[in-house]
Amino acid sequence: MSTKLFLDSGDPKETRAALELLGHIDGQTTNPSLIAKNPEAAGKKFSEAEIYAFYKGVVSEISGLLKPEASVSIEVYADAQTTAEAMLKQAREFNAWIPNAHIKLPTTAEGLKAAEVLVGEGVRVNMTLVFSQNQAAAVYAATQGAKKGDVFLSPFIGRLDDRGENGLDLIKNIMEMYKAGDGHVEVLSASVRNLQHFVKCLEYGSDIITAPLKAFKEWVDAGRPESLALPENQNLKPIAYENVALSKPYAEYDIRHELTDKGLAKFAQDWNNLIA
Ligand code: G3P
Repeated sequence: MSTKLFLDSGDPKETRAALELLGHIDGQTTNPSLIAKNPEAAGKKFSEAEIYAFYKGVVSEISGLLKPEASVSIEVYADAQTTAEAMLKQAREFNAWIPNAHIKLPTTAEGLKAAEVLVGEGVRVNMTLVFSQNQAAAVYAATQGAKKGDVFLSPFIGRLDDRGENGLDLIKNIMEMYKAGDGHVEVLSASVRNLQHFVKCLEYGSDIITAPLKAFKEWVDAGRPESLALPENQNLKPIAYENVALSKPYAEYDIRHELTDKGLAKFAQDWNNLIA
């Protein structure tokens, strides 16, 4: 199996459980909502310095549990007003926390500007809250020149399903579109909620899947299938493939998406709720 498996969790206890369940994982992704769900943080209030120290402690522990070549994603704080400069400041700081970080940035105009600078500095990035082919093309264009493994793209499946669209189609479409590229961006399928999502991402050849422990358990219980004849969810509207060229300057793509804006606001809210 060529797809790498990451755990989607802000809790090192789950890292241990995933290692026990699978024997090996290739990395872990975190985000502000997952850190807020960590049992040691949930319901508590921190000062700003304390919450960053807590996040650093969590990712350091996770990094220590995994092999040196594994990746741990750390997400910047960003809301609708956050500038590329502010993201860069956080990204450089977080990147020094552990030796194997990918820095998660939102796929917004400011996030793309920050990504372009960071890949130029050799900082690895994971572009998150991706809901469209145009966003995926813009990430490809903004990170030209980066080497394979340095740029992840995180399209969110479940959140498209939540509003009646077939999120798995987005993975299929991006994989197809990226065939015309040089392979420097790796597709990290995210917002994976169930066995169907998990196995379809394997079938589509997603470079990486990040999934919560629960989805890994379902997959292991099913005998770790790499394909399955599961019925399509007829209630979901298909997402059509669009012919999007990868060659435009990144600022020329229309990257706006309502779910990116909503996702950004929710991450910011969950993070701010932790701060007294
Ligand atoms: O890592 C982010 C992503 O996996 C979030 O998933 O279930 O909150 O849409 P979800």
